[in-house]
This record gives sequence, C-alpha cells and structure tokens, in this order.
Amino acid sequence: MIKIRNVYRSFGDKEVLKGVNLTVNRGDTFLLIGRSGAGKTVLLKNIIGLLRPDSGSITIAGEDITQLSRSKLEKVRLQFGLVFQSSALFDFLTIEENVGFFLSQHTALKKAQIRKKVVETLALVGLKGIEDSYPYELSGGMKKRVAIARAIVYNPKIIIYDEPTTGIDPIAVDKIVALIEDLHTRLAITSIVVTHDLDVGLKLADRLAFLLGGKIIFQGDKTDLKNSTDERLKQFLTGSSGGPIKEMEV
Ligand SMILES: Nc1ncnc2c1ncn2[C@@H]1O[C@H](COP(=O)(O)OP(=O)(O)OP(=O)(O)O)[C@@H](O)[C@H]1O
Ligand SMILES: [Mg+2]
Repeated sequence: MIKIRNVYRSFGDKEVLKGVNLTVNRGDTFLLIGRSGAGKTVLLKNIIGLLRPDSGSITIAGEDITQLSRSKLEKVRLQFGLVFQSSALFDFLTIEENVGFFLSQHTALKKAQIRKKVVETLALVGLKGIEDSYPYELSGGMKKRVAIARAIVYNPKIIIYDEPTTGIDPIAVDKIVALIEDLHTRLAITSIVVTHDLDVGLKLADRLAFLLGGKIIFQGDKTDLKNSTDERLKQFLTGSSGGPIKEMEV
C-alpha cells in the first residue's frame, strides 16, 4: 500500500530523513517508533503529501506521489484519515460540524445526510448525543474519539494516528486501543501508528519499524522483533539510558 524508497528530507542544514526505506502492506497496522525528534512526524507528513521529500520516492497504492502536481496531491490526501496528537478539532465548530467538515467541503451531501452520517460515525467510536456540543465541553478522551470519527467519516483507505493515546487515563487508553483494533477489523483499513506508548503500539501492530539517525534501522513483525539482536533496538525498547544510543542521538 505504501512504499518509501530512499527518502531524504532536510530543513536548512538539518538533515532529518537520511535515506528512509519502508513498506506498509495493505490492511496492516504499522507501528513507527523512534526517539523524540527522530523525524516520525516529518516522515508522516511526507507520506500524506504535506511535505515533499528532497529526494526518493513515496508510492501510495501504486502511484509515486512525489511526482504529482499540487492539485493531484490534494486528491491523494483524501485517501488518508488523520488523527493528530492534539486532536486538532475546531473549537468554534460543533462536534457535528467538526466530524462532518470534510463531507460539507468535498461532497454534495445535504445537511440532513451529513448529520445522519456523523451520528452513525460517532456511534462507531462509542459516542452518542454530543453532536451539538463544542469541543471545550468534552474530555480529552472524548476529543480523541471525535478526532477518530472525523478521520474515518469519509471512508479513507489509510489512517494515520500520531500519538492517539497521549494524555488520557489508562482505561480511556484501553478503550481507544480497542476502538482502533475494532475499526481495523471492521473497515479493513491500513493504518500507521506513531506512539511512545510501546504497550499500546505493540498491541496494535502487525509490523513495526524503528527510526534512528534518519534511517529505518529495524523493520519486521513481532517475531522479528523478539529475535532481533540489535543493541540499539533493545536499548530503545527497554528505555535504558546506557547503551549504544548516545543521549543526544535521535
Ligand atoms: N517545519 C520544520 N522546520 C524546521 N525543522 C523542522 C520542521 N519540522 C520538523 N523539524 C525538525 O525535524 C526534527 C524531527 O521532528 P519530528 O517532529 O518529526 O520529530 P518526532 O520524531 O515526531 O518527535 P516526537 O516524538 O517528539 O513527536 C526535529 O529536529 C524538528 O525540529
Ligand atoms: Mg511527532
């Protein structure tokens, strides 16, 4: 579904991605791990076309998006559902307007049809009767669910979750994990998850990759992970301050 080949991306003289290679299979939940500042979000932004790589190719469902014009790229972006770290809801819009935003902008659906779709989608993420509320009236966990509803409302082929469980209580985390798993089986969607919560990430993941020093230094399934002898990967997984990864190394 997603093939990343030799992707480089710098900001000024800061090289962030230095030859990233990554393959995400259709229908998989793919976990991307790495230190803070490693470039995970930068990589996600390249995948959804918000940033362009300096070189290398990114193929989504057979199409190299690095070669596309801006308007064609917009279309590709519509294949993605995005769940951002901060939930990123519009504070001045109701939950209905937030979740239905895409449908009102990009489809010819009437208000009543959008409302119906929004109510159905909110039910999918376990929320009811909050259509007319505003984001400030919801808890952090509810906002995450609304953000997920907004991401899935237009049936995207791929969902990107950047820190979907940060800042919510352990029970709410468990519910979000169950929700992501459920969506995954019900909608057969391809997902990429970025999280610092390894328990969450490993629960969800079919395959995973570790980004260090601007490159993917490990990629595989959970058996490969268990069998890996890479000391850097081991150090990261155990969260040890001693080991081959230097303190300032991302
Ligand atoms: N628009 C930008 N302009 C300049 N530098 C940027 C920009 N976006 C990201 N960076 C830099 O790229 C590096 C990687 O950032 P990124 O946000 O991808 O890290 P991350 O792996 O997502 O970290 P975290 O786990 O903390 O979210 C950082 O050093 C950051 O300062
Ligand atoms: Mg990030």
